[in-house]
Amino acid sequence: MELKEHFNDKIFHLISQTADELGLECYVVGGYVRDIFLNRPSKDIDVVVVGSGIEMAQAFGQKLGKKAHVSVFRNFGTAQVKYRDTEVEFVGARKESYSHDSRKPIVEDGTLEDDQNRRDFTINAMAVCLNQARYGELVDPFNGLDDLKERTIRTPLDPDITFSDDPLRMMRCIRFATQLNFYIDDVTFEALERNKERINIISRERIADELNKIILSPIPSKGFVELDRCGLLPLIFPEMSALQGVEVRNGRAHKDNFYHTLEVLDNIAKHTDNLWLRWATLLHDIGKPRTKRWEPKVGWTFHNHNYIGEKMIPDIFRKMKLPMNEKMKYVQKLVGLHMRPIVIADEEVTDSAVRRLLFEAGDDIDDLMLLCEADITSKNEVKKQRFLDNFKLVRQKLKDLEEKDRIRNFQPPVDGAEIMQVFGLEPCREVGSLKSAIKDAILDGVIPNEHDAAFHFMIERAKKMGLTPKE
Ligand code: CTP
Repeated sequence: MELKEHFNDKIFHLISQTADELGLECYVVGGYVRDIFLNRPSKDIDVVVVGSGIEMAQAFGQKLGKKAHVSVFRNFGTAQVKYRDTEVEFVGARKESYSHDSRKPIVEDGTLEDDQNRRDFTINAMAVCLNQARYGELVDPFNGLDDLKERTIRTPLDPDITFSDDPLRMMRCIRFATQLNFYIDDVTFEALERNKERINIISRERIADELNKIILSPIPSKGFVELDRCGLLPLIFPEMSALQGVEVRNGRAHKDNFYHTLEVLDNIAKHTDNLWLRWATLLHDIGKPRTKRWEPKVGWTFHNHNYIGEKMIPDIFRKMKLPMNEKMKYVQKLVGLHMRPIVIADEEVTDSAVRRLLFEAGDDIDDLMLLCEADITSKNEVKKQRFLDNFKLVRQKLKDLEEKDRIRNFQPPVDGAEIMQVFGLEPCREVGSLKSAIKDAILDGVIPNEHDAAFHFMIERAKKMGLTPKE
């Protein structure tokens, strides 16, 4: 298909007419053009006008009539036109220069070439002309099309300039390589190493946005390997860097937790696009470096790394400007619980252990099971199969018990208020101890999850504590 056939939509022809009427050169540029060649759908259209982008947007908006909505951002010299579900962003072609300690450029009017020069990567710097005389003509001064074919990320200018101008592009570089499964050109990569410290002038929110896109990629490990290889990782995520390394004592080595984590992350990426489940996976062993011990009789141990990891998460989320809300709590919960199914599967899959797991995980039980299955990275096929079989058993038991006992999100059928009322008590230690005795009896299968059975159990238990119901 010819390139111009990708611009058959009425919207492009109207932009074209508007530009010709105003006598302005006008091009679709950036991600939209790149995504045509990648066969990816793309909604946002960026248009560069050699002249005033705002004037062009206003004229275009008038042509579209009442259904169009034009927003002008004078400070940035840009304007956006929304029409149905399409958004077109107009910007005047510009030449930018940057000062050393800021991302804010000094902007002057420029030519199309100036505008293409200031873009981040060759694959993002291609433009397609919309003026009638050259409709659908590709302007590709840096051979972005060849880089697309060769699956290469490369900067149009000297990469030291491109990255230093806007250091967020270092994250974008790795993000695009990961999302698209592209290579980073060596010269460009070396500039990542040289300019990595400049990442410090970028806001944490923007870094987190890019990191999230890396995590949501089909094979996220690729991004983390590159972040590590160029030295950005310890600057933006030191806890993850600390997972690295293997120590050997008496000929016994522990596994490299960085690569293990990445393997688990790639495993889970095959099963879920839930960003927070992927985060939980990334952080599941984050407590290991702090809990590592050498115990002469056992070897390397990481006791309680799940609890320590759970406790580290609020600090990590705060520093990275990730949401400190129920998403974080969910990640904490999964990290805290991630050893439980393995322990159950490794020992005996008893009803009581599975009921307790179900009680604590609640609705997140399926996500927890996915994480635990992804966590089996043993190279020993026999061992791996044994774990997977045991997990199947755990899953089956979870299903049976849930149908029978409705433990998920369960509230004990006799609550504190009822206990206080029956025995005429104020809130006190005895009420708490009766409450947890009832909960334990249900989870251990001593009594069914029903009010009358729980009530009877409470009366018996209270008797032993010297309590009698008030008249
Ligand atoms: N751009 C740039 N430097 C940046 C951000 C963007 O040079 N730090 C340029 C690129 O030419 C890019 C265009 O602006 O193609 C649009 O940016 P954006 O919408 O952020 O990215 P897309 O390339 O469209 O890709 P995505 O939507 O995946 O972020």
